[in-house]
Amino acid sequence: MLVSIKQEASEIKYRDFWLEDIIEKLINRILFNMKHLVKIWDSPTRLFHWGLVLLFGFMWFSGETGNYLDLHMKAGMLILSLILYRIIWGFIGSSSARFSSFISPIGAIKHALTLFKRDPEIHAGHNPLGGLMVIALLIMLALQASAGLFSSDLVLTEGPLFNLVDEETAEEMTDFHHLGFNVLLFLTGLHVAAIVFYRVIKRTNLLKPMITGKTVWPEKTPEPKLIFKSPLLALFVLILSVVAVFGSVTYLSNL
Ligand code: HEM
Ligand code: HEM
Repeated sequence: MLVSIKQEASEIKYRDFWLEDIIEKLINRILFNMKHLVKIWDSPTRLFHWGLVLLFGFMWFSGETGNYLDLHMKAGMLILSLILYRIIWGFIGSSSARFSSFISPIGAIKHALTLFKRDPEIHAGHNPLGGLMVIALLIMLALQASAGLFSSDLVLTEGPLFNLVDEETAEEMTDFHHLGFNVLLFLTGLHVAAIVFYRVIKRTNLLKPMITGKTVWPEKTPEPKLIFKSPLLALFVLILSVVAVFGSVTYLSNL
């Protein structure tokens, strides 16, 4: 009798412990999520990114199929405006969007040396290695769109600045526009693979912050002191960039 009571008691204890464990984990999870979500990306940077992704998809479709080439050229000039906007925002924008916060060649080397460590990584923005990829993408997008201005399909469509250069240069620009796209495809493939790598190997979710703006910040690490600039300032810079790109291309094409 005594033995069976003891056994039952220990089973209850075990069950209770098991239940307590689950409840504790659930509470921790709720508290963790509530307490330590920290905003790292402003809305202009997120809109810039997802706008760029949509435009890039359209450029791919319209370029490869040859459909909507007129719209392709307008959208390409919009990409050029977005790059100009992003460069300006990289100097005057929110802290995490500034180039100075993520361009660090030494930081990139240090980061590369610990790349395969499975510890989660937390950065209030891009890590220095990701920063290099960002710069490579921005430069390649700018070159690709600029070459497009001088390109031609030799049938119906000519870039707006095609007539400013001689035939040989236009041909070289068109070749570059074809080759450059393959380089861009390679870079974006690497870019997405890196995000999957961080998720799977380093258990770090980079995607969610680029959507919601917020990341889960570790309890024991001091929160970053970020300054977020007004989205209205970003809109002003964007309008200025669109006017500068479309205005100067129109001016040059009329020379
Ligand atoms: C980042 C922006 C851009 C991307 C990703 C892009 C991508 C492409 C792609 C994939 C093609 C097809 C190439 C092929 O047939 O192999 C193409 C063709 C073309 N693009 Fe773009 N483009 C961009 C910007 C521009 C801009 C700004 C212009 C002009 C304002 C432009 C003008 C043209 C023209 C005229 C063609 C036809 C050339 C041909 O078929 O040989 N593109 N583009
Ligand atoms: C669906 C595919 C894509 C996903 C899931 C994705 C995801 C991301 C994520 C999570 C970041 C932030 C990385 C970090 O925290 O360091 C980022 C940044 C960036 N991505 Fe993508 N990306 C995609 C496609 C593209 C494409 C097609 C381009 C351009 C051709 C691109 C260009 C960029 C740039 C320039 C940044 C830096 C943003 C900034 O600082 O303003 N991405 N991307």
